Amino acid sequence: MTTHVIRPARTGDGDTIRRLMPLAFDDAAMANALADGVERNNGEIRHAYGPIDVLICESEDQRVGMLLAQPPIDLLERFAFSPIQLVTVAQQLVSVEIVAVDPAHRRQGIGRALMEEFETIARARGAAKLSLSFPEKDPDLASWYAKQGYQIIEARAEFDLEIGGMILPVSDGDSGHILAFKDLG
Ligand SMILES: CC(C)(COP(=O)(O)OP(=O)(O)OC[C@H]1O[C@@H](n2cnc3c(N)ncnc32)[C@H](O)[C@@H]1OP(=O)(O)O)[C@@H](O)C(=O)NCCC(=O)NCCS
Repeated sequence: MTTHVIRPARTGDGDTIRRLMPLAFDDAAMANALADGVERNNGEIRHAYGPIDVLICESEDQRVGMLLAQPPIDLLERFAFSPIQLVTVAQQLVSVEIVAVDPAHRRQGIGRALMEEFETIARARGAAKLSLSFPEKDPDLASWYAKQGYQIIEARAEFDLEIGGMILPVSDGDSGHILAFKDLG
């Protein structure tokens, strides 16, 4: 049986990030910036609003999957939060930005294992919900995320997100992306 090990990214993972991240999000500059940050800081990177987490999945000494999560920066900048509300939302809501698995290693449970490992980390830090968004043109992803327990918000629908004792009306607008949320319970 193949064993998968999931661990935080560290110095030496830069090339893996440059290879895997574009599978999910075609922006070489962003992949390079993240890879450089991981290399420089041994994987310990932060945004002003909170930690940026990069997880790597190794399978038999090959690096075959990655996950990137960060504070929900767009949402934090869209609403006029008080400083206390800002801290509360930044702690309670985390955005999963990227999950990507090498095509040769898909459908072996690696994507799911990356998501589950990050849920454990986020829950331990006091997060109540995870959010993410994915391109509307990729219906397979909607069923994959639904399988991982996410509530998929219909395209262009407005959704009342309950977080930190507040109700925030959120919508993907016309971005061509679909929003999804998961309660960490
Ligand atoms: C989406 C992705 C991360 C899934 O990774 P994976 O390792 O193949 O997924 P898993 O094997 O953990 O899948 C878990 C379950 O979902 C199923 N599944 C896998 N891919 C699926 C798909 N495209 N559609 C529906 N179900 C799918 C698996 O059969 C498995 O089901 P089971 O638990 O009933 O056996 C991978 O396909 C990928 O890297 N895609 C390209 C990058 C991308 O688009 N990322 C998301 C946007 S950031």
